Amino acid sequence: MNQSTKARVIVLDNIAEEGLAKLKAADNIDFDIKTGLKGEELKAELANYDGAVCRSGVKITAESLEGNKKLKAIVRAGVGTDNIDKPAATRLGIVVMNTPAGNTVSTAEHAMALLLGLSRNVAPAMESLKAGRWDRKKFQGSQVAGKTLGVIGLGRIGQEVSARAKAFGMKVIGYDPFLTGERAKELGIAKVEEVKNMLPDVDYLTVHTPLTPETTNLISHDEVKQLKQGARLINCARGGIYDNEALVAGLESGHLGGVALDVYPDEPCTDNPLFQMDNVLCTPHLGASTDEAQVEVAIEAVDLMINYLSTGEIRSAVNTISLDPKTLNKLRHHLDVAHRMGRLLSQWHGGAIDHCALEFQGELAEVDSRSLVSAFCAGLIGHISDEANIINSEMLCRERGIEIVRTANPDHSTFSSMISASVSGDGVKRSAAGTLFGKNMPRLVKLDEYQTETFMDGNLMVFDHTDVPGIIGYVGNLLGEAGVNIGQMAVGRCSENSGGRAIGVLNLDSTANEEVLKQITENEAIQSADIIKLPAIKELPEWLS
Ligand code: NAD
Ligand code: MLT
Repeated sequence: MNQSTKARVIVLDNIAEEGLAKLKAADNIDFDIKTGLKGEELKAELANYDGAVCRSGVKITAESLEGNKKLKAIVRAGVGTDNIDKPAATRLGIVVMNTPAGNTVSTAEHAMALLLGLSRNVAPAMESLKAGRWDRKKFQGSQVAGKTLGVIGLGRIGQEVSARAKAFGMKVIGYDPFLTGERAKELGIAKVEEVKNMLPDVDYLTVHTPLTPETTNLISHDEVKQLKQGARLINCARGGIYDNEALVAGLESGHLGGVALDVYPDEPCTDNPLFQMDNVLCTPHLGASTDEAQVEVAIEAVDLMINYLSTGEIRSAVNTISLDPKTLNKLRHHLDVAHRMGRLLSQWHGGAIDHCALEFQGELAEVDSRSLVSAFCAGLIGHISDEANIINSEMLCRERGIEIVRTANPDHSTFSSMISASVSGDGVKRSAAGTLFGKNMPRLVKLDEYQTETFMDGNLMVFDHTDVPGIIGYVGNLLGEAGVNIGQMAVGRCSENSGGRAIGVLNLDSTANEEVLKQITENEAIQSADIIKLPAIKELPEWLS
């Protein structure tokens, strides 16, 4: 490649020399290092480059990408891509990739360092020594062996922290919506079904989840009160998972024994009120800052960039799919069906899933079904992972111990193509089948053993009942009184005759609250009523739109 066709890459944060050396050696790439950019300056620079490599320092906002016609890829040397506006990048056709595993161990070690440092007053004892005092009494600490650690989020880092805590003789209690009983047993972790169930029992609590709407302020004032007196809290994941004000209040009241943070809601952060308080140990986002992790993520990030700019290969993408345009056009609406089925089955099952079986029938038996499996997986775990998309979702499922089995069956009895799926875990199995009516209308045609014909659209209410007269009217009246309009309705039963078990599936214009669902199940012929939330019919996930 001659000089004029070379791709241009900008490195926006400091990355390890080993990564820079690879960029230097790439003969089809020119690169510049420009750190500390923001605002108009960042926007102007980004407009001149084909690729950008960063860590978490630079904030690549929608404004900084606005009107950018040149940038093709952003690679994050690290895990969290919350400093990059992914919807804005996607809209501009910019691939965002990350390096998820390179800093796992370093971050787990940092969480342990904070846990131990907090327990043994390492930082204040050093300060006191520096000030010329020999105070052994004041800094008496607590032993961690025999204590209980609560871990919220048992992905890559959470699992490594658990293993290390166990090696220190701690008992570990864990919560992660995707942790099955079996996997918890393998990890030697006592699993709880809800965060609040572990709070009264833990001496230490550590969080290792992404920052999502569900995890923002996950531990706030009420949760702090439920914690054991003297509990110590650690956060090496993302600022905002603990409510900062609740931490301050918990320390002031003496209910919390200590707080250790590596991450903050707004970074860089130098004026958090916690920094002035006793029993607090804080570091400036150092979890991944080891020589080893930085070399690993820098090399991986640069490899991703070089491969993408040289061959178009996309790996570890967090905002796009790896399909070529022709295949995407052919499969787009089937991918939508598969994604909706994943969303539906994760809610219909409602618990931890460790096995999925997918069968592609009719015409779909003839295509490469990997992207359909990925679309299903993206639906299945979309509500717990902010990274899940068609590129990475199957890997994320497998990393969480979910076994995925796919089969193809060219027979098509009723529909020219159909996707049948079942999910199981913790002794519960749920299944469904979906198809396309016409070219682009996703329909649910089976739910468990019931045949149905339901629009896979918006809020569904599913009620399991005995097939006796009056049930539909009863449900309709209660929804009507609650101001909930029914858009569509389907009923299905297992046998030909009335009096057996049946299912009703309603498409509601707005969702029914818990109170209405409770009233519905007060009828003794109705065994259950559940809400399943699906995207509205034309609403496609970011990676499919
Ligand atoms: P991961 O995706 O492997 O694991 C995250 C886990 O959180 C998953 O198992 C997921 O099921 C779980 N989860 C999601 N929502 C949840 C919820 N509401 N309640 C409980 N669990 C939930 O990610 P990882 O690599 O282990 O990283 C974890 C976090 O650490 C991320 O926020 C990442 O950005 C951060 N991180 C920080 C540093 C640092 O320098 N401090 C370094 C690396 C990663
Ligand atoms: C990450 O998400 O990888 C970490 O926060 C580490 C970093 O920002 O370098």
